[in-house]
Amino acid sequence: MTSIHLSLDLTQTTLSTPPSMDPNYYFFALSSEEDSEKNRKMLYELVREGVLDDPGHKSGDFETYHDFINNIYYKHYWKHRETTFLASHHGKWIGLTTLTVNGNKAHNGLTVVTKEHRGFGIATALKQKMILVCLEKGIQSISTHVASTNDPMLSINRKLGFIKTP
Ligand SMILES: CC(C)(COP(=O)(O)OP(=O)(O)OC[C@H]1O[C@@H](n2cnc3c(N)ncnc32)[C@H](O)[C@@H]1OP(=O)(O)O)[C@@H](O)C(=O)NCCC(=O)NCCS
Repeated sequence: MTSIHLSLDLTQTTLSTPPSMDPNYYFFALSSEEDSEKNRKMLYELVREGVLDDPGHKSGDFETYHDFINNIYYKHYWKHRETTFLASHHGKWIGLTTLTVNGNKAHNGLTVVTKEHRGFGIATALKQKMILVCLEKGIQSISTHVASTNDPMLSINRKLGFIKTP
């Protein structure tokens, strides 16, 4: 599976106003939540669905909850909780986009929205919120990569101004 590398130049970016959305969707950072078993399980389910549903994922396997917590959760999610952006619907976590910051550059990792909430602009809104935080932090560029067959994700990134890089 080919991966397409994309980059957003924030020195040339102004955010358009996000469209109005069902007020039952709530957007927040993982840092505003407790490190509780309930929340860890919600994050696990979300990440699992996104990884298994990503056309770029080859094996069809995903870590057990136990392995995810021991090897991934604290290292990749809790550590970057200020820049792990979530969406919930009536309290259930249904969307995620992740960002790691390195100096004045950042990398946008996994984005996922659960199947029943897709097509309502949640991933776009999560990424717009991420871009806003990057602009506030003075970050100059955001990189990401997407499987070449992932048309919805490529469409969202292009709409937000990401362009293909070598
Ligand atoms: C990719 C994903 C996050 C999108 O979430 P979403 O909340 O449905 O996204 P949005 O509603 O904000 O936007 C979807 C866009 O994709 C477009 N789209 C949907 N299906 C499409 C297709 N087959 N071809 C092209 N564009 C498509 C929609 O038209 C929409 O664009 P628009 O707003 O310009 O009309 C979601 O499908 C998902 O979780 N997929 C599985 C995990 C994954 O692949 N993640 C990406 C890896 S980083």
